[in-house]
Amino acid sequence: MRIIGIALCVTILFSSCSQQEKTDKYDHLDSRTKIRLQQYLAAGKQLYNLHCANCHQMDGSGLAKLYPPLKGADYLITNRNASICGMRHGHKGGVVVNGITYEQEMPANLKLTDLDIAEIATYVYTEFADTVQIVTINEVNSIMALCSDDLSK
Ligand code: HEC
Repeated sequence: MRIIGIALCVTILFSSCSQQEKTDKYDHLDSRTKIRLQQYLAAGKQLYNLHCANCHQMDGSGLAKLYPPLKGADYLITNRNASICGMRHGHKGGVVVNGITYEQEMPANLKLTDLDIAEIATYVYTEFADTVQIVTINEVNSIMALCSDDLSK
């Protein structure tokens, strides 16, 4: 009985801890930013599921050697501009993600507006790269102006 009691306490403790961590992730944001982030995340998730998940999967884990993962991908952090450019212009020439080489081509999606990409990038960076950030329309706009024809660089 006592052991069960202790186990129960530990379980409750742990679950309240992980709940805590979840809210903590956004705690440093002021309430206006938090609301904006939530709006971006909701819209970004829908757009991601529509335009990206068939290859990168809903959970961002990618697909075998064909489609690279976004979840935990070092490439998102080390090649931020190329990642965001690629969301509109596609990507070819291969990428190395977490030490694994992928060589399929990612098709362009020229219909995505700066707002669409801002929302998708906010979702991808917050959900999959474990950062908390709003990628703004202005930032997307200035990154798009830098996109080179050769996005493998
Ligand atoms: C038809 C399949 C397909 C779709 C749809 C697709 N991608 Fe990709 N994506 C790829 C492939 C293949 C690569 C690797 C490209 C290369 O090797 O040059 C890639 C690479 C990437 C990369 C850089 C590598 C990494 O894993 O970080 C990012 C970021 C990315 N895609 C994000 C997206 C987002 C966001 C969308 C939706 C707007 C999207 N992709 C839609 C297939 C796809």
